[in-house]
Amino acid sequence: MGDFNGKTVFITGAAHGQGRAAALAFAREGANVAGFDVGKKIEYPAYEFGTNEELESLKAEIEAMGGRCLVFTGDVRDDAAVTAAVEKTAEEFGGIDVLFNNAGICAYAEIDKMTDEAWDAMIDINLKGPMIVTRRVVKYMMRDKKGVIINNSSVMGLRGGRRLSHYTASKWGLTGLTKAWAIELAPYNIRVNSIHPTGVNTPMNDGLAAMEGKTPEEIAEASAGNLLPVPWIEPEDVANLVLFLCSDKARYITGAQYTLDAGLLSV
Ligand SMILES: NC(=O)c1ccc[n+]([C@@H]2O[C@H](COP(=O)([O-])OP(=O)(O)OC[C@H]3O[C@@H](n4cnc5c(N)ncnc54)[C@H](O)[C@@H]3O)[C@@H](O)[C@H]2O)c1
Repeated sequence: MGDFNGKTVFITGAAHGQGRAAALAFAREGANVAGFDVGKKIEYPAYEFGTNEELESLKAEIEAMGGRCLVFTGDVRDDAAVTAAVEKTAEEFGGIDVLFNNAGICAYAEIDKMTDEAWDAMIDINLKGPMIVTRRVVKYMMRDKKGVIINNSSVMGLRGGRRLSHYTASKWGLTGLTKAWAIELAPYNIRVNSIHPTGVNTPMNDGLAAMEGKTPEEIAEASAGNLLPVPWIEPEDVANLVLFLCSDKARYITGAQYTLDAGLLSV
C-alpha cells in the first residue's frame, strides 16, 4: 500500500527523463499511470526525444511491479491525440487524480537570430501544450471535485536565461498559468503548483550538450550556477518533490512555486 494507492496519474513526456522517473515513483506508491509522449524525433530542437520503445518499456516495468499502466503516443500540441488519451485514461481508471505537465523542449537562440519556427515550437510545446492537456484533464477533476496539477517550469520560469529568451518566456508563462489555474480551480478542490528545477541529468541536457559541442556537465553549469557542489540534480530528486506536492501532506499548498535548484536562485 502506497501513498497513491488506487489513484490515477497522467504524465506528459513520460518516455524518459523526469517524466519517466515520476511515473516509476508514482507506480511504486501504488498509482495507476498514464504516460503520454511524442515518442519520436520532431522537427525542433535537433536532439533525441523519447521513443515508443521507451514508452513500452515503462509500461512493462510498471506492470512487472504489479501496477497498471497505459501509454499513449502523441504530441501535446495535438488536441485530438490529447483528448483521446485523457478520455481513455479516465474510462479505464475511473478518473484522473494527478496531472504532471512535464513534456517540454529546450534550445539556445540569440534574439537577433531567433526564427519564427524556433519561437513558435517553444511556446506551443512548453506553454500551449500544458493548456491543451489541462483543459481536457480538468473536466474529470472538476466532476470529482478533487485533483492536483504540477507544472514543470524551470529556474528559467523565475529568472532570465542567456540565449534562452523563448524558453524563458515559455517557462514564465507556465508560472503564470499556475497562479491563474490555482485561483480558478480552488473551488473544485483542485490544487495547482509549479516546480522550478535547476539543470537535471536527463537526455535533454545530453542533447543540448551535443548541439553545443560541450559536455553535459558544462551545459548544466553554464545555465545554472548551483550553490551546492553538484553540476545537476537527478530526475529522481524531481520525482520526490512532485510526489510530496501531490500527496495529502501538501493538502493546503496551491498556487505555489517550488524551487529545486541546489541554491541557484539564492544568489
Ligand atoms: N533537463 C533540465 O535541465 C531541466 C531543468 C528544468 C526544467 N526542465 C523541464 O523539465 C521537463 C522535462 O525535461 P527533461 O529534462 O526530462 O527532458 P527530456 O528531453 O529528457 O524529456 C522530455 C520528454 O518529453 C517528450 N516531449 C517533448 N516534446 C513533446 C511533445 N511536443 N509532446 C509530447 N511529448 C513531448 C520527449 O519525447 C521526452 O520523452 C521539461 O519541461 C523541461 O523544460 C528541464
